[in-house]
Amino acid sequence: MIDPGTLDALKQIVGPNGYWDRPEDMAPRLVEGRGLYRGATPLVLRPASTPEVSRIMEACHSARVPVVPQGGNTGMVGGQIPSADGTAIVLGLDRMTTLRSVDPLNNTIAVDAGLTLQQVQDAARQADRLFPLSLGAEGTCLIGGNLATNAGGTAVLRYGNMRELTLGLEVVLADGRVLDLMTGLRKDNTGYDLKDLFIGSEGTLGIITGAVLKLFPRPRETETLMVAVASPQAAVDLLARAQAATGGQITAFEIMPRFAVELATTHMDGVRDPFGAPHPWIALIEASSGHAGSLRPALEGLIALALDDGLVRDAVRAESLDQAAALWAVREAIPPAQKKEGGSIKHDVSVPVSAMPAFIGEATTVAESLIPGARVCAFGHIGDGNVHFNVSQPAGADRDEFLAHWDAMQTAIHAVVAAHGGAISAEHGIGQMKRHALAQHKNPVALDTMKAIKQALDPLGLLNPGKLLP
Ligand code: FAD
Ligand code: MLT
Ligand code: ZN
Repeated sequence: MIDPGTLDALKQIVGPNGYWDRPEDMAPRLVEGRGLYRGATPLVLRPASTPEVSRIMEACHSARVPVVPQGGNTGMVGGQIPSADGTAIVLGLDRMTTLRSVDPLNNTIAVDAGLTLQQVQDAARQADRLFPLSLGAEGTCLIGGNLATNAGGTAVLRYGNMRELTLGLEVVLADGRVLDLMTGLRKDNTGYDLKDLFIGSEGTLGIITGAVLKLFPRPRETETLMVAVASPQAAVDLLARAQAATGGQITAFEIMPRFAVELATTHMDGVRDPFGAPHPWIALIEASSGHAGSLRPALEGLIALALDDGLVRDAVRAESLDQAAALWAVREAIPPAQKKEGGSIKHDVSVPVSAMPAFIGEATTVAESLIPGARVCAFGHIGDGNVHFNVSQPAGADRDEFLAHWDAMQTAIHAVVAAHGGAISAEHGIGQMKRHALAQHKNPVALDTMKAIKQALDPLGLLNPGKLLP
């Protein structure tokens, strides 16, 4: 257990408003949204500044106390939850909420790690700019967590993931030293790209306390439409046409099966299927442009042709922001709706876009033969070759009995991913959930190189032990 004197010293650093040690205050930080991982800790520290984080890490380093960093606790692989033995402290970044600076002419924004993604989007909008990262948890997840997980979301197709949106970083290292890489330069070729080591490191290499992020011109025209197609192949063919028709101005291209639409409209209030008849697959398409008037005719032409030659069976275009929001609501309702439907074995995977139809077909056959009656909900960011290949329990089955098949199902689906040259984690990271799968799927030289980096930056193994690395 952690020495009480050490705990008192840590509380001194942050002051009475900077920590929780009552079980009732800490409880929400010790379980994640899906209830798959539960942990314990004697202390949740909530520093308000980088110097406080530095002093905490210095104290934990000398006392050999493991530290689990936490942002908004929306991570999906258990990376933010401490082990159940209570030997680590949790370090929450949610009180570090300074908007450090906005530079519209340099198209950058400098932020503390504890701002929510939504707050950064809003700050960009106030400067007549766009910060494009967008995901269902944006009101809760923190920028530090987005960086630590290299978050993706629905706009990766156009703007890239968190790694591609970041120019500078501030990190507190395991021994408390502050690594100041807070640059807004787009070109800085002075040695290794250290920031990229920490982006996606899931709290295992350092505590991210600040970042300089890219801003983009705010779109002057956005078109949102939903199209009914016969198959993932038809969706992928349509994506290629849409990119050509708009000159690469597709911002998001999401897919969902009939089963997902049924879950969303059954379990989630106010969500309705925009089509009169059921369709096997639906694609949600968003395009945006810097000058008004060009997109609509391009998309109208695209859809007219696709209806003509049968690639598309039906289409609905949003005529207002509310209608666009209603189309997105169907898509964003899928994660919570799956939870209401019962047990769901999750796979956040990627394969080349061109291989996605074959992957979905083969993986569906594998899932249904492994657990007869299991229902596949393969939805999400097909435009970036990433689907959430989630398998729901057979109707009426016992949730826990079904979830007991998690490892067998995951192994089988990951084998199909590997057969298509894909990745076993597209955007959510490894956390606790996929450490063993990483050992099976990452090549040994890559694993050795990661371990060498971990050894160099955290030789005492205090940063987020038991996560990411096998
Ligand atoms: P947490 O969950 O608190 O932590 C995540 C990991 O980062 C942990 O390993 C933690 O130790 C580490 N960490 C957190 N803060 C820091 C820090 N400051 N320094 C170092 N390490 C840190 N993710 C996507 O990529 N795309 C999606 O489309 C998407 N959609 C989602 C939809 C819903 C409804 C939900 C609930 C989640 C979704 N997610 C998605 C997953 C999740 O939102 C992201 O992984 C997000 O980036 C996590 O941010 P967070 O602040 O909640 O981090
Ligand atoms: C999403 O894209 O909605 C999430 O990343 C996946 C999920 O919630 O399962
Ligand atoms: Zn996603």
